[in-house]
Amino acid sequence: MHILKAQQFDKDTLQSIFNKARLLEDPVLGPTLGRRIMASVFYEPSTRTRFSFEAAMLQLGGSVISTENAEQFSSAAKGEILEDTIRVISEYSDLIVLRHHAEGAAIRAAKVSSVPIINAGDGAGQHPTQAIIDLYTINKEFHSPDKLTFAFMGDVAHSRTIHSLVYLLSKYDVEHIYFVSPEFISPKPELIRYLQVKHISCSPCRHIEDIIDHVDVWYQTRLQKERLGDGGSFDMDVAFQAVAHEYRIDNNIAEQMKTDAIIMHPLPRRGELALDVDTNPRARYFEQAANGVAVRQALILKALEL
Ligand code: NCD
Repeated sequence: MHILKAQQFDKDTLQSIFNKARLLEDPVLGPTLGRRIMASVFYEPSTRTRFSFEAAMLQLGGSVISTENAEQFSSAAKGEILEDTIRVISEYSDLIVLRHHAEGAAIRAAKVSSVPIINAGDGAGQHPTQAIIDLYTINKEFHSPDKLTFAFMGDVAHSRTIHSLVYLLSKYDVEHIYFVSPEFISPKPELIRYLQVKHISCSPCRHIEDIIDHVDVWYQTRLQKERLGDGGSFDMDVAFQAVAHEYRIDNNIAEQMKTDAIIMHPLPRRGELALDVDTNPRARYFEQAANGVAVRQALILKALEL
């Protein structure tokens, strides 16, 4: 089974993945995948996603073949198209984890692959496995996202982790979603339309202070400079400063949040999330990253239909 976008999962499937991940948090309980090979093919930089996928496969007893800079170190450097690369690698492996800079790349890959494709981020499109990890992290804290109020902050327009998590949340009975960002990186109209169709209440917010006392889950993201082209009509540095300063979470802001609120971030962070938040009891971003291994083990097993 391919894992391409958040919308493909229903609540029961998500729950079964979470149950399995819970079990797999104890490393001795994993099945052994013997001679199975996972290929991790990354055309964009990654720390958490690639390492946690590879750690997950190794924990399951399988093997990994990998390129962490496919643009330079695969035949893409010689002009090979993605489809040809995937067609060939799918003959060498049982599963392909793909990260690519083009939106829709995972869907293109799935059309030609003879093995399951897992989308590990396609441009400004989606990052479904990160969203499932995020929801797992939220559930550990609150049992479910039902009745919770969310604030998605930073680069709402380009953050694929936000897109996928919002699509997942729209399956639940969430109280409200705020999109806290400057106008130029506010959510894409298609995301808002999707939420309207699903009757999920959402609104933009330009000042953290306005909502500080009633948000349960704060989800901060960095400005995705690499997706803004050359800046076009606005100055990139001004934009970066806006996110880093006006929409920044530091410990002073964090202290004003609800005492049981949590602060998440898919990482990497830039100035938008201050280092002094790390010791705040609301910080959950390192737990979020740590949850990646068990959840990705469950997702590898799902993709392999095991
Ligand atoms: C993100 C990504 O690559 O989309 N990180 C991640 O996978 N955990 C976030 C980002 O790059 O800003």
